[in-house]
Amino acid sequence: MDLKLTGKSALVTGASSGIGAGIARVLADEGVQLVMTATNRERLETVADEIVAAGHEKPALVTADITDPQAVNSLAEEAQGILEGIDILVNAAGSSRPTDTQADDAFWEEAFELNFSSARRLTQALLPAMRKRQWGRIVNISGTMEPRSLNAASAAKAALHVWAKGLSCDVAAEGVTVNCVAPGRINSAQIRDRLHPTEESRQEFIARNIPAGTFGEPEDMAYMTAFLASPLAWYITGAVIPVDGGMHYFAH
Ligand SMILES: NC(=O)c1ccc[n+]([C@@H]2O[C@H](COP(=O)([O-])OP(=O)(O)OC[C@H]3O[C@@H](n4cnc5c(N)ncnc54)[C@H](OP(=O)(O)O)[C@@H]3O)[C@@H](O)[C@H]2O)c1
Repeated sequence: MDLKLTGKSALVTGASSGIGAGIARVLADEGVQLVMTATNRERLETVADEIVAAGHEKPALVTADITDPQAVNSLAEEAQGILEGIDILVNAAGSSRPTDTQADDAFWEEAFELNFSSARRLTQALLPAMRKRQWGRIVNISGTMEPRSLNAASAAKAALHVWAKGLSCDVAAEGVTVNCVAPGRINSAQIRDRLHPTEESRQEFIARNIPAGTFGEPEDMAYMTAFLASPLAWYITGAVIPVDGGMHYFAH
């Protein structure tokens, strides 16, 4: 299937590793021109080199801490300048924030800045141009809705879901779609190094929770994201689509 993405432009956050990097690689394969952003320039360069090695144009790289509202505005401006407009925004930056029951406000605020407000702000910065052009795609990488313990990132991702659903209604008639893709367990630095650091802990989790029998790869998230970014997906909006190998916590 031709996703008709050739020549479109995209800004991908969290593109220096894991899911965001996988999304950047797949969008580049589909002929999308990219601006990739994260805080770590070296890791962004590594992903950009992989994209060039695959035969594609080198993506533009912009480093920014997206928990800083001013940095988000500058990022939006710079990205729109580089690609003469952004057709597709992928909000992939984020990180788990497990916590005890008494975490203070600063902890919760940081988790929300990183996992919710950054995506909302960046979307608000890019949305006016999308509405003007009557075309745009916003894809948010979210998370579980059935946490098994307290995690401030899960609460922020829940905000992302409900914000995206509301926004999707407001802009649906203007050619702009807003969707979320919810990962189950996807192989990435934060999953392998922090959440499941040993092969034994991975296998135990998989046996109990993942019918598909393995963690997913960033590309598994990326194929869904690329489809949602495509002109073909114009009638899909306000959706939260799991990519989780059948993990479906809510079904237990
Ligand atoms: N992997 C999973 O199974 C899973 C499960 C649930 C939810 N998720 C969500 O999926 C998304 C991607 O996660 P991942 O697993 O691929 O993790 P990852 O490999 O750790 O990637 C996280 C990305 O976010 C960027 N980032 C973190 N803090 C940032 C900041 N302050 N400013 C700008 N960029 C920042 C990181 O870049 P730098 O380090 O270079 O800044 C990195 O590129 C996240 O939103 C995560 O919450 C993943």
